[in-house]
Amino acid sequence: MNVRLAQKLIRWSKLNYADLPWRKKRSLYNTLVSEIMLQQTTVSTVKPRFLSFIKRFPDLKSLAQADEAHVLKAWEGLGYYSRARRLHWAANTISKMKNFPDTHENLVEIKGIGLYTANAILAIGMDKRALAIDANIERVLARYFGIYEFKGICAKKLTQEFADKKILNFKVSFRDFNEALMDLGRTYCRANKVDCLLCPLRKSCKSFKDKNALLTPKKVLKKKVVKEDLNILRVVFKKSDKYLFFKRPKGKWLQDQLELPSFIIANSKLKQYPRLKSFNLEKLPHIESTITKYKIKNYILNIDSIKLDPKRSVWLSSNDFKNHHLSSVTKKILNC
Ligand code: ADE
Repeated sequence: MNVRLAQKLIRWSKLNYADLPWRKKRSLYNTLVSEIMLQQTTVSTVKPRFLSFIKRFPDLKSLAQADEAHVLKAWEGLGYYSRARRLHWAANTISKMKNFPDTHENLVEIKGIGLYTANAILAIGMDKRALAIDANIERVLARYFGIYEFKGICAKKLTQEFADKKILNFKVSFRDFNEALMDLGRTYCRANKVDCLLCPLRKSCKSFKDKNALLTPKKVLKKKVVKEDLNILRVVFKKSDKYLFFKRPKGKWLQDQLELPSFIIANSKLKQYPRLKSFNLEKLPHIESTITKYKIKNYILNIDSIKLDPKRSVWLSSNDFKNHHLSSVTKKILNC
């Protein structure tokens, strides 16, 4: 890798991907939001949701002051809701500071900002000399340098390689360089498919020369997990025109999301929901869902009385549904 090749890669990226919404209008806040969104979600899914999120919460202050429920609602469609909470925490903390922290040390001190996000803010947000090693960058560079190792080990060796070859001293924009490497990982240098003949780095790519780009990063063979069956009773309790919901407790599945009151039926030892020893489910309609290793049958029961912890009970009319983030099973059951 030399400066000229980095520049060539950057030109390719600018020509093709400059119009991603978080690249058009830059701010540290926009970078914080987009980088947390992009951590476990594809660019095409993030694009429209980033725009609507920024419209709803245009700056750090508006996000910091928002109710968590509204942040979760604006996060809909992105999944992995713990990220929304992390982003909210980080916005809260930073909004109380004089300036946006601008060192790695100060960024990682903030609850909600991990190593990757800190480097992404430095490199992409501030155009500082940093490498935000996400899965894409790890894969592209492991292949380029011919490092045939498992994920994580590749990342460590790459950090060393960057230091040895003084790549962080290159006179290029590290914002552009990081983004270009990410673009390559998303397009021509994917995990299970490569288009090396189109790649701007191919002439000096070690794994292209070795004809084995797909061999790194090495894959850990995952044991196929056999899904466990689980029966959950979902209770629909409507009084006047309002439905009863239960706010999921901390540390449990779907933390802080609203669900219909729910009970695990019979012999599962799982402690995610209160348990009913037995219940005749035979005549009840059900819908299926999955979570972690569980294959769930959600049985639907209409009732006209139930007692729940009032602190976690929420009554909503169907008009209110659009303002709250409801779990997807709940939405399916209530058809909303
Ligand atoms: N993946 C993570 N961050 C990204 C970015 N800024 N642009 C494109 N893909 C990304």
